[in-house]
Amino acid sequence: MTKGQFPTHKFQQLRTPFYYYDTELLRKTLQTICQETMRHEGFCVHYAVKANANPYLLRIIREAGLGADCVSGGEIEAALKAGFPASKIVYAGVGKSDWEINLGLDKDIFAFNVESIAELEVINELAAAKGKVARIALRINPNVGAHTHANITTGLAENKFGIAMDDMLASIEEAAKLNNVKFVGLHFHIGSQILDMGDFEALCNRINELQDLLEKHHIQIENVNVGGGLGIDYQHPNRVPIPNFQDYFNVYAKKLRLRPGQTLHFELGRAVVAQCGTLIARTLYIKQGAVKQFAIIDAGMTDLIRPALYQAYHKIENISSDEPADTYDVVGPICESSDVFAKQIDLNKCHRGDLIAIRSAGAYGEIMASQYNCRQLPKSYMSEDL
Ligand code: LLP
Repeated sequence: MTKGQFPTHKFQQLRTPFYYYDTELLRKTLQTICQETMRHEGFCVHYAVKANANPYLLRIIREAGLGADCVSGGEIEAALKAGFPASKIVYAGVGKSDWEINLGLDKDIFAFNVESIAELEVINELAAAKGKVARIALRINPNVGAHTHANITTGLAENKFGIAMDDMLASIEEAAKLNNVKFVGLHFHIGSQILDMGDFEALCNRINELQDLLEKHHIQIENVNVGGGLGIDYQHPNRVPIPNFQDYFNVYAKKLRLRPGQTLHFELGRAVVAQCGTLIARTLYIKQGAVKQFAIIDAGMTDLIRPALYQAYHKIENISSDEPADTYDVVGPICESSDVFAKQIDLNKCHRGDLIAIRSAGAYGEIMASQYNCRQLPKSYMSEDL
């Protein structure tokens, strides 16, 4: 996409920074997901609300028929408000508090993804108090690595997530002893921004081993949840606006040995919403420092923390200028040295007032914004409303 793809004349009137969502791209992405899952029997996709809980986007995602994957009571509330049926809500997280569990029980969500025996016992107790039986899946830590940033791997033995594989059978036996929980499946998640399909294949192999082991113990389960993690092409948001869902689902269709009648659940976040979102900022000042030139923009790490937190790459474009490129460090106004979006990149020559587009920001962007430095949270605009 070049600057022609953005309604820059409409942006001129808006206060920056703000998130701009291309709802047409989101709809196309959802259409692709639905087409690809329909080829495989029993595949259900839950949208990982943590990636972006913008109510407008949630409604579009719900209309496409996806379920919701939540990690807090707040996310369950957001999903319900957007119209996701409780029967399509799964709820994970190592630290579920009582009110959050009670909310899930009251609404009869599809399943709690339980991360410890201690949590299992609390869910059982709270369900008993309501005379209910909670559907629970056990989140197993598969000790499968993922080729991604260390901060966003989750499926290694050293991570805080899930129940250790060696404790799986004991946990299932424990669940069987409790009257107010019903064990329905296994849950996994190995990490995020994964582009090597071999990582998902390794997860399939591990799940096959675990299912074989369960069978030896005459334990059957209704469903398997493999989490999310499919990455996107941050380098080429124009060339690859929609991730390769076909290859992704095919890995599971080919490598995972589902038992008859079992359903397979996915929890995709980034792959659904990342490419449809752009953070739009204005250039405030061009500053020639002692050794480099800075483009200082009005968006900061408070609006998009990924570059500061994970050294994440986001493609940046000057969508106001056609002049030959110059080299800049693109930085924000926050009083932190890590408030940097990119170092030594080429941008069409920048002037005060130029609009800057920070691409592929739809996932873990707006939702991770903060008010540090007493800043306002960024607003959002939908392409179909402008
Ligand atoms: N399921 C579970 C249990 C998860 O922990 C996550 C993400 C997902 C699903 C969705 O993963 P996705 O499909 O989006 O990769 N803030 C970081 C990413 C953190 C991901 C946390 N868990 C970032 O900006 O890269």
